[in-house]
Amino acid sequence: MAQATPSVPMPKSGITLSRFIREKQKGYSTATGEFTGLIIEIGHAARIITREVRKAGLVDILGLTGKINVQGEEVQKLDEFAHHTIVRALDHTGLVCVMASEESDGVIPIPDRHPRGKYALNFDPLDGSSNIDTNASIGTIIGIHRKVSPGGLGSVGTREDLLRKGSEQIGAVYIIYGSSTILVYSDGHGVHEFTLDPSVGEFYLSQEDIRIPPRGKTYSVNEGNWAYWSDAQRRVVDYFKAEDKASDRPYGLRYIGSLVADFHRTLKKGGIFMYPGDRKNPQGKLRLLFECAPLAFMAQSAGGAAIDGSTPILGIEPAELHHRSPLYIGSAGDVRSAETILTEARAGAHVA
Ligand code: AHG
Ligand code: MN
Ligand code: MN
Repeated sequence: MAQATPSVPMPKSGITLSRFIREKQKGYSTATGEFTGLIIEIGHAARIITREVRKAGLVDILGLTGKINVQGEEVQKLDEFAHHTIVRALDHTGLVCVMASEESDGVIPIPDRHPRGKYALNFDPLDGSSNIDTNASIGTIIGIHRKVSPGGLGSVGTREDLLRKGSEQIGAVYIIYGSSTILVYSDGHGVHEFTLDPSVGEFYLSQEDIRIPPRGKTYSVNEGNWAYWSDAQRRVVDYFKAEDKASDRPYGLRYIGSLVADFHRTLKKGGIFMYPGDRKNPQGKLRLLFECAPLAFMAQSAGGAAIDGSTPILGIEPAELHHRSPLYIGSAGDVRSAETILTEARAGAHVA
């Protein structure tokens, strides 16, 4: 009797990150394979950070380094580790000409000993730091630009390549180190999710072409800041909390405190995430280049929307690398509702 074929557990889709991107990129006449290579290298960095995040509870990587970063926040060891892991994974590949990180004051040049490539990256190496010690989901956010500064391919990248509108991005990636590690990327043509199978160290396609529903059922905001909010912002939250069967309200409140996790839920299920400006921080807390713009690129690629309260996030000209911006992001219908209320409140305030 023929030997039964051992049942080898195949991944759900069996399509690896590299195979998926290669096949997608084949559809673009201008594809050179470099974007594919970049996403694969980012996936490698994600696997290394995953290993440290998984160990975080076991070794003394928790707790603070006692250093303060450019944002004036205590730098947790995992922030630094993630920052250095991403720089080291990419700086020698010949794919990148310059980077900037939430954890670095200025731009991060590619050392002369390494070849330089055509991509410029803005990234938040570890988003949701306040959740590191509570084992809640944290993540990495990356915005990808193509070099525009003079000197041609292989030359040094500069601030000019990074300090640009989000609409000039050619890609975005985020990773969530949660119950499993997932990597989500977009090249502007659809948003695709991959899940890490740690037993083989591969990312497998878990959802292709994610679309944000036109409206959701949750709003996501830190209501603890209510005392500092404008009257307009309070009206927005009151709107989502009000009972109105016709528009499926009240919405539920979900807030994890890690933007990348709150955004991922919003991307998959719809709804709205808000981090408004307030009396303490008129420009809000989130960074335009490292958080808002990459996720706005992702949201718009999935049929959603992202504004600062009045202007599309992707249309904002950054004043400096660590530019902060209010953020309203998610289902197009819910973002539109927020924008209408904010505009009317401002007009009313203006009249008064
Ligand atoms: P980071 O850890 O990169 O500094 O980002 C933290 C951000 C974001 O992840 C989250 O949405 C927000 O901070 C939470 O801020 P509050 O604790 O003020 O709600
Ligand atoms: Mn962050
Ligand atoms: Mn961070």
